[in-house]
Amino acid sequence: MAACSFRRSIASQLSKVLDLPPENLIKSISAVPVSKKRRVADFQLSIASVTEDNSRDCLAPDLHLQAQKLAEGTVLRQVLKDGSEYGVKSELFSTVPKQKAVIEFSSPNIAKKFHIGHLRSTIVGNFIANLKVALGHEVIRMNYLGDWGMQFGLLGVGFQLFGNKEKLKTSPLQHLFEVYVQINKAAEDENTKKLAKDFFRKLEEHDEQTLSLWKQFRDFSIDEYIRIYKRLGVHFDEYSGESFYQEKSKEVLKMLENKGLLQKTIKGTGIVDLSEKKDLSSFSTVMRSDGTSLYITRDLAAAIDRMNKHNCDTMIYVTDKSQSNHFQQLFQILKLMGYDWVERCQHVSFGLVQGMKTRRGEVIFLEDVLNEVRSRMLENMASTKTTKEIEDPMETAEKVGLAALIIQDFQGLLSSDYQFSWDRALQSRGDTGVFLQYTHARLHSLEQMHGNEQLTDINVACLQEPDAISVLQHLLRYDEVLYRSSQDLQPKHIVSYLLTLSHLAAVAHKTLPVKGSTPELAQARLCLFQAARSVLANGMKLLGITPVTQM
Ligand code: ARG
Repeated sequence: MAACSFRRSIASQLSKVLDLPPENLIKSISAVPVSKKRRVADFQLSIASVTEDNSRDCLAPDLHLQAQKLAEGTVLRQVLKDGSEYGVKSELFSTVPKQKAVIEFSSPNIAKKFHIGHLRSTIVGNFIANLKVALGHEVIRMNYLGDWGMQFGLLGVGFQLFGNKEKLKTSPLQHLFEVYVQINKAAEDENTKKLAKDFFRKLEEHDEQTLSLWKQFRDFSIDEYIRIYKRLGVHFDEYSGESFYQEKSKEVLKMLENKGLLQKTIKGTGIVDLSEKKDLSSFSTVMRSDGTSLYITRDLAAAIDRMNKHNCDTMIYVTDKSQSNHFQQLFQILKLMGYDWVERCQHVSFGLVQGMKTRRGEVIFLEDVLNEVRSRMLENMASTKTTKEIEDPMETAEKVGLAALIIQDFQGLLSSDYQFSWDRALQSRGDTGVFLQYTHARLHSLEQMHGNEQLTDINVACLQEPDAISVLQHLLRYDEVLYRSSQDLQPKHIVSYLLTLSHLAAVAHKTLPVKGSTPELAQARLCLFQAARSVLANGMKLLGITPVTQM
């Protein structure tokens, strides 16, 4: 029964009792969550939603017992055999077709602040991409830079006045930001405004020298972004940007005109009527009075181009919810233009984060956040007595600190706003990323201590204590949690699953010693801990966390 999974086996037994095809049952079988109140061995499976009149927990007693045995025996072997594929290989996903997804996330604006919204977009988008890849889908990770618009007129003029080529090379993000701040202060005066307009006009006309300076701004910035994203463990397959779509925006405007969708206002701007009654009670502005494109025009062109180029099954945009209206309008216009694939476009939005500040003040660069969390974590590590000699404390602090940021961010619904707190995020106990990392490191050193060769021939009958059963039972539910997150793209299911797993493993670690037990028992327990660590690591990686092995 090697290939026969536990859930499938239950389904086939049940199908005989209920006289229903097993395929219909698989998704309705779920392991009972471990409950804090009722800490007894319980491997019962609940059947909800198989038939309408069916209440939960309807398994016959003999089936219940069989399920228990089956699960106990199978889950450990399955975890250890499947390794990083445990859960994702589940039959829950067998009917989900493999798809291609373009996921656009992060998308900062050159020379402007990289704010918390960009950070959130980065970690959320990365999570969605990781999850889809793990489930066997093809994913294109795309960064759509704010690399065009009047701000580049100002920036160009600013650079001619205050710029420094050397600084542009060594720290482009900081330097361009400073230049941009400086020129904005000067931009009050009419002459500067005019110069900026001229610069941007030359840019739009592709004047060689102007374009080459702009290209340097962009290229150097991307180099630095790549370096910083790497610290976060994030990469992109494509660096796109608004600049790609100024020509194509013109085509979009023509298409809108040809389809009779473009209307001119008295002021000369171009609008698309989005109202149902065609009374302009709602509309979107797609063209300035001078004929140039807007943010949404470029997004229209970009969406059409993405679909042409990648022919994908889903197109996802990850931004904060202040842009919900924008994406709604974008999708509405695409629909009016006759692009049915707009049904497969999705805006994944998230709430606002208040109060993220570093000791130096306001967050301007992503790197500020990374440095801050690393140094705070280093201080915490230095002050705990248990921190052993760590090979690379900076790197460990960074990974643990990032885990703290990610878990704090992913704990609630993405759409909720939350108040940022360094202290809460970095607590070593409780529901934090630090706790996950700590648990992972402890389980890892347990394996190191007792030899971590692949254990295969274990006697599961040794694992009868409630604390062991709880861990087993929880491991059984991993695929269900992945399934939920894959359906609603919310990381919180995985987060709360991993926190519970860590709590259960910590308890088991205390009550079920390996050292001093008979070899058979020690083997079985080690195996249990190995499985827990493996699933913990898998889940953490999906969330964008790199598990540490010491801390
Ligand atoms: N650069 C934009 C900003 O910082 C986000 C871009 C979102 N993506 C898009 N296709 N419009 O607000």
